[in-house]
This record gives sequence, structure tokens and C-alpha cells, in this order.
Amino acid sequence: MTVASLARPEIASLSAYAAATQANLTIRLNANEMPSNANSAVDTELNRYPPVRPWKLRERLAEIYSVLAEQVLVTRGSSEAIDLLLRVFCRPAIDNIVISTPTFGMYKVYADIQGAEVRCINTSAGSDFAPDVCALLEACDAATKLVFVCSPNNPTGNSIRSDDLLRLLRNRKGKSLVVVDEAYVEFTSKESTVGLMARHENLVVLRTMSKAYGLAAARVGSVIAEASVIALLDSVMAPYAIATPIIELALSALTGDRLACTAAQIETLRAERRRLETALPDCTDVERVWPSDANFLLVRFRNLAGVTRRLAEHRILIRDFSTDPGLHDCARITIGSTDENDLLLKALTNSDA
Ligand SMILES: Cc1ncc(COP(=O)(O)O)c(C=O)c1O
Repeated sequence: MTVASLARPEIASLSAYAAATQANLTIRLNANEMPSNANSAVDTELNRYPPVRPWKLRERLAEIYSVLAEQVLVTRGSSEAIDLLLRVFCRPAIDNIVISTPTFGMYKVYADIQGAEVRCINTSAGSDFAPDVCALLEACDAATKLVFVCSPNNPTGNSIRSDDLLRLLRNRKGKSLVVVDEAYVEFTSKESTVGLMARHENLVVLRTMSKAYGLAAARVGSVIAEASVIALLDSVMAPYAIATPIIELALSALTGDRLACTAAQIETLRAERRRLETALPDCTDVERVWPSDANFLLVRFRNLAGVTRRLAEHRILIRDFSTDPGLHDCARITIGSTDENDLLLKALTNSDA
């Protein structure tokens, strides 16, 4: 059985929209576009539809991620990739997904929209939020189509151990896709899991340009999967989804100089993360700081409500996660610029400030 056969039968037999042919050096009278660009302030031919899929960007991202172009679908942020996976693989009121909580909230949101059951297995602070693979596997049944693993995990910052991931992949072979969300992977020294794809066709990896590449506003993400899975997701995604100026911008961010700049920014961020990891425990209200592979830290405070209020007075926002399972009195703090982090530490150190 191939992984693509796990898809909803109606999606497997879907006829995708046949977009107007696009070829260079042709007179394009086939797509009801205007013949000229009304916005002369930009060079981009805004009167023309973008390519149905951003082929060049796809090739470049495939190079960066060390996979084949046919294994990549460029999406509007990796959020859209999560939505596509739910829509393609989960039949409403029949299928389910399994997640390790606390984790990124959008897996549940898109599952709820699709009408797929969400089975949550809680992790614990005591085991540094390591996913409980035994319990995850026990939660799976014949209707489990997707197992989501966020690594590094938002909001806890830890990465899954490779033997745990391998166990999940092997046990769910032919039964479920295992989706590893690597939104923050560039901030770790650990390798991406895409290397495992050659031997595990049920592995799907999500990547994004929103975090380490600093392009959250551009909305560029990727799904990396076996080509037949990509073809199914492609058949559901809207044609022309990625706008021409965004394709150009993303491609320019992936050239030599800009990549070097991104690498330097990642290094600075990691140094700032180390600085905050060391300095925060000395602040009176801080009870615990967990190690993090991402661009944020999970912190337990003695008086979270008071701290949040005090920081807000300094116009500093942090994200309260205290209602998530196992995260009482916890907040997630994104690593900012050196100046922003100085202000954070000052506001936390000096309660009268
Ligand atoms: C773990 C994780 N995955 C995916 C996303 C979505 O990112 P985007 O849609 O910007 O690619 C986020 C955003 O915060 C996230 O934390």
C-alpha cells in the first residue's frame, strides 16, 4: 500500500482545475488578463497571473532542503500546509489525528474545521516535554491518518529524539503519515529529518521562511513529502496561490549574500538565546527556564499575572501558556534584538522600574 492511498477517496479521484497555458514569448489571450500593467511603479508584470505553482522557487527550496523538486509544494506559510494535509487525508467524523501536547495550536484548529477527531497525549515538564511515543502509538487506530510532531516544539522548545521519531515512523508505516513540523529547525544544531525520507515514505516535513529567514509577512512555507503525496496536496491547493512579488522576494532571499546574512542573524539570535538562558534564572520572579532549540524560551514564573502586568507597563508582550496542560505559570518569551532583550531583563530585574 502506498502512502497516497491513505488519502480521502474523493480527493484521490479529484480532477484538478485546468489553468490557462502559460508560455514565454506567446501572445496571451487565454486568461482574461489586462494587456498592460496599471501599476507602473513596479517592474513586475502585475497584470499577468503568477505561475500556477512557483516552479523556480520550488527548485531553489528543494536545493536548500536537499530534496527533489517533485517532493516540495510551496504553500502560503506552513500553516496552509497543515490545512492541506487535514483536507486531503482526513474524512470528517471518521478519521483522526494524534498530537503530543502542549504544542502548536493550529493542528487542532484545522482538524476541528475539517471535522477530524484530535487525540492528545500530554507530555510532562518532568521529562522535559519529550513526546511519549508509547502513548502516541497506543492512541493510534485504523482511522489515524496524521501524527503531528513539532520539532523543535512550540511552545516548549525541545526537539524529538531521533530514535523516538524512527519508532513512530516504523510503527505507522502504511497506516499514517508522520508530519514533522520543523518551523524552528534552523535555530538548532540538530539536523533536519528530511534525510530520513528516502527510507520512510510516510514522513512529511514542514518548513517555513517565516522564522529563521525573517519573512513572516511574505507567507512562504513548504511541505516536503513523497511525490505522490505532494501531487495530492497540489490538486487541492488554489491555482496561482503564491503572488509574483512574493516569489521574486523569496528567491532573492535565497541568493548567496542574503543567505550569508540570514546565517549571521541566526548566530546572533542563538547567542542572545544563550544570554537570556543564563540571565533569566537570576531574576526574582523566574522559577525555571527550559533549554530551547528554537527562537523562544519557555519560562515558569512565581507570579505570572504580576510579571505580565509589569512587562505590559514597559510595553513588552510575552505569551501566556499557563492554561496549556502541564504549563501552569508558564509563558513563552521570543528572543528579540539585543536591545529588546536588555529591556526585558531590566524590566524583570528591577520591579520598581
Ligand atoms: C510550530 C509552528 N508551525 C507552523 C507555524 C506557522 O508558520 P507559518 O504559517 O508562518 O509558516 C508556526 C507559527 O508560529 C509554528 O510555531
